[in-house]
Amino acid sequence: MNTVMSNKNATSRAIELENKYGAHNYHPLPVVLERGEGVYVWDVEGKQYFDFLSAYSAVNQGHGHPVILRAMMEQAQKLALTSRAFYNDCLGEYEKFITSYFGFDKVLPMNTGAEAVETAIKLARRWGYEKKAITTDMAKILVCENNFHGRTITIVSLSTDPEAYTNYGPQTPGILKVPFNDLNALEAMLKAEPNIAGFLVEPVQGEAGVVIADDGYLLKAFELCKKHNVLFIADEIQSGLGRTGKRLACDHEGVRPDVLILGKALSGGLYPVSAVLADDEIMLTIKPGQHGSTYGGNPIGCKVGIAGLTVLRDEKLSENSERLGKVLLAELGKIKTDFPQIVKTVRGKGLFAAMVITEKEGRNAWDVCMKMKDLGLLAKPTHGDIIRFAPPLVINEMQLMECVGIIRKALSSF
Ligand SMILES: Cc1ncc(COP(=O)(O)O)c(C=O)c1O
Repeated sequence: MNTVMSNKNATSRAIELENKYGAHNYHPLPVVLERGEGVYVWDVEGKQYFDFLSAYSAVNQGHGHPVILRAMMEQAQKLALTSRAFYNDCLGEYEKFITSYFGFDKVLPMNTGAEAVETAIKLARRWGYEKKAITTDMAKILVCENNFHGRTITIVSLSTDPEAYTNYGPQTPGILKVPFNDLNALEAMLKAEPNIAGFLVEPVQGEAGVVIADDGYLLKAFELCKKHNVLFIADEIQSGLGRTGKRLACDHEGVRPDVLILGKALSGGLYPVSAVLADDEIMLTIKPGQHGSTYGGNPIGCKVGIAGLTVLRDEKLSENSERLGKVLLAELGKIKTDFPQIVKTVRGKGLFAAMVITEKEGRNAWDVCMKMKDLGLLAKPTHGDIIRFAPPLVINEMQLMECVGIIRKALSSF
């Protein structure tokens, strides 16, 4: 009894501390996690959960993957950080590895996703002035409505979500927006505006609620960009690295973006590692001293990045995601049929799925997530009525079916 009490206290104490001393820029589910392994996490009360968010797809390889962990610990003991003022003996090896993995001439290493998106925008503008001959300061970046690319001032200027941009003005100029999955709007914009340097797109819109474009959209959008001499920039920070059942979401349509942005699962959740990949014509427009980051390309990040990508390939996580994604979507479809009053829509690609809830008094996506939490599965609502399902890609079919059972049980309680 005393242990139970003190564990409950540990939960409320951790929440109180965050509330009192931390900025209130998140609204977490009230669960305090202290340990993770593979598809599981445990809270401070010792309760085990399936992680169905995977830290917004940063933990595709599962919590604490031993191969990545070992690479990280070995390098941390040897040399952690040099800055880019000096060479280090890991960066070149990592650059060779990641460029051949994805088939690009060069990589620019950063840390967080937002930094990598900023880097891609800078590269696109550079290329626009130096290769496309856009008049100084006239370059435009074209983005999709309902995007999510991060939280910097420039990136929230790309956003169409008032939550993201309100009272952070003045916004960065030179941004144009078109609806996602609308080729006519894209074509019209590309025709009308000659100063577009890059079209920045999430191949699957993750934060918007796993919004999947029609088949052929990415390829056609890529071709339109080529026709109008505009860089096609894919933000695969969330959709990439096996999440949708392929190495990249762009691979579903055979699209090789001009600029590829990666983050999150590049490190399997162990360390902030992000990257921008492009060919020389684009990448070499940035010269020494014109961009950088103290931690970008640090030895630990390099070793972790190699390990993260190696695990994805060796453990065939894209293949697992593709196979089990079909199982998950089929099961969610059955759940929708069985709970027509509650479940409005289900959709997914690989192990990247979403369920849209019909809201009514006492039953919204948050309430469903709370119920699933009680039953041992953690997922997070997005935009009020959508629940994203994105387990670590190391999940097996038995575990997945157990999770489907939990989702079903949670819905039947309403
Ligand atoms: C598609 C996409 N781009 C960029 C980001 C920003 O990454 P970070 O939070 O590491 O800055 C995210 C984060 O959720 C994302 O989903």
